Amino acid sequence: MFNKFLGLLAWTGLWQPELVVLNGGTTTTTTTTTRVDLNTTDMVTTTSIFMQGLVDHFVSGDGQKVSYEALEQSTFYSQTLGEFGVLLQSTDPRQMTQPQRKAFFINLYNILTVHAILSRDPLPESTISVPNFWQRYAYKVGPFTLHLDHMEHGILRGNRAHPTTGTVMFPSGDPRSSLTLPLDTRIHGALNCGALSCPPLRSYSAASDTLEEELDGSLSVFCNKGVKVAGDGSLLVNSIFKWFRVDFASTEQQALRWLSGCVNNASLSQKLLDASLGKRSVSYEYDWTLNAMWVEKLEIPEVTSRGMKQ
Ligand SMILES: *[C@@H]1O[C@H](CO)[C@@H](O)[C@H](O)[C@H]1NC(C)=O
Ligand SMILES: *[C@@H]1O[C@H](CO)[C@@H](O)[C@H](O)[C@H]1NC(C)=O
Repeated sequence: MFNKFLGLLAWTGLWQPELVVLNGGTTTTTTTTTRVDLNTTDMVTTTSIFMQGLVDHFVSGDGQKVSYEALEQSTFYSQTLGEFGVLLQSTDPRQMTQPQRKAFFINLYNILTVHAILSRDPLPESTISVPNFWQRYAYKVGPFTLHLDHMEHGILRGNRAHPTTGTVMFPSGDPRSSLTLPLDTRIHGALNCGALSCPPLRSYSAASDTLEEELDGSLSVFCNKGVKVAGDGSLLVNSIFKWFRVDFASTEQQALRWLSGCVNNASLSQKLLDASLGKRSVSYEYDWTLNAMWVEKLEIPEVTSRGMKQ
């Protein structure tokens, strides 16, 4: 409710959310190491490898939880992330091919989400409890400053309107609109918003063939996990399929039909078809609990920048 109020004030221009650019400054490491400017192909690959490092060391096997505590005390956070942030400043996402830009911004969105959560002290109860979370945290990516909503709605969703505010991220003439990609519905199975109901965290490949397979796989997992049968036989569906219905279909009926084709389980698929015909009731649910994993005994892996290059 409060967030909606702030959203309204922001819309009327009465309140401007504070923008926190998490790679805004220069780190001390730039003065002590030789700075290498990567070409965009290498930047996409480095981002993918960086995300893989994050997942390997600090994310649960199923991709659902992050060990923020361990991450905070690691050199991966204190050093490698800073170095990565410096590289980001010198890249130019306009020079990436479309598949490269897709992989790059999916990985970057997920990295920025984790980074933004970690930047809060103490950790938030949920990302939705942080006012304007998605328009507050940004990275400087070459000449552009991009917050989470710019990456999701402006770039990865084809600059479609934001589902709650109805506004587009890049108004006409905005130079950032040169980054916009055609909508790929599969991003909904890939973008992680820091909550338990989000798709799992994984690294997306810079190689386009592999990226295609990964996006198909993630969407399939997300569909299958996103439908449950309640005790009374009604269906509980992940709210993503309601909030972003326009990305899947034009009506609820069509969206449920689409989902019935996405799930693997024949019995569940039939139940969704029934629901699409109004023969079974549907409600939507979303667990916003922070995707934090609390470890009893901290074993902090040493991840250096060399680890980044593998
Ligand atoms: C990018 O740089 C790498 C060396 O780091 C080189 O092998 C590759 O060919 C370059 N790619 C492009 C597209 O310039
Ligand atoms: C398929 O879904 C039904 C619920 O509709 C469930 O009872 C069953 O265990 C599921 N089958 C598999 C193989 O997951």
